[in-house]
Amino acid sequence: MRRIFCPVIPPTCRDRVISPSLLAADFSRVRDEVTRAITAGSDWMHLDIMDGHFVDNISFGPAMVQTVHETNDIFLDVHLMVSRPDHFLPRFVSAGADLITVHVEAEHDVADTLKKIRAAGCLAGLALNPATPIEDVRPFLNEIDLLLCMTVVPGFGGQAFMPEVLPKIETAARWREELGLAFHIEVDGGIDAKTAGICGQAGANVFVAGSSTFKAPDMAAAILAIREA
Ligand code: DX5
Ligand code: ZN
Repeated sequence: MRRIFCPVIPPTCRDRVISPSLLAADFSRVRDEVTRAITAGSDWMHLDIMDGHFVDNISFGPAMVQTVHETNDIFLDVHLMVSRPDHFLPRFVSAGADLITVHVEAEHDVADTLKKIRAAGCLAGLALNPATPIEDVRPFLNEIDLLLCMTVVPGFGGQAFMPEVLPKIETAARWREELGLAFHIEVDGGIDAKTAGICGQAGANVFVAGSSTFKAPDMAAAILAIREA
């Protein structure tokens, strides 16, 4: 199902976007969990794809993305933690991804993959791990719609936020200003109302939150707290 009668204005990098991670949802009732997230005020849905190689965990693949696409109407923020994002890309495009984020550390021609994502009609995101210097993504800033600064070592939900990533967010925001660009800055890992506030101060505007939203006693209150942090 896609938005037909209710066009939305796409968010800019000045807007706060909350993207709950499905990884923390109850997998036995995925459709209802996504509906719950939408009702609670989610802007996007973050889908973590892990191949057991790029990260030490296996999550789900294109079939899950397609299920979410077909059962709910929400912008799909697909985070590919896979060694060969170029190889798997077409399957996630077909599955209904709206934004596809690939890692700068993966084994691929980064510029070419970003070009292919946009050519397929999706937004292009580029991610970097906490240990990766921000300089590694600089050559690609012209080619992206979103920069994802990982705030945990990727692979698992429920980890503690790493404050040492904050200077990279500040640098990315400064470069964006200097270069006259408009990409979003997303943070992912250990995000709750407190850490979202700190990341927002540093320049992030898209907040991925798994445990702090899906596992909260009141998901709507948790999302609102991140939005207003
Ligand atoms: C980590 C994933 C995250 C994860 C976040 O590898 O990329 O999206 O689901 O989970 P929380 O919000 O629980 O840290
Ligand atoms: Zn993620």
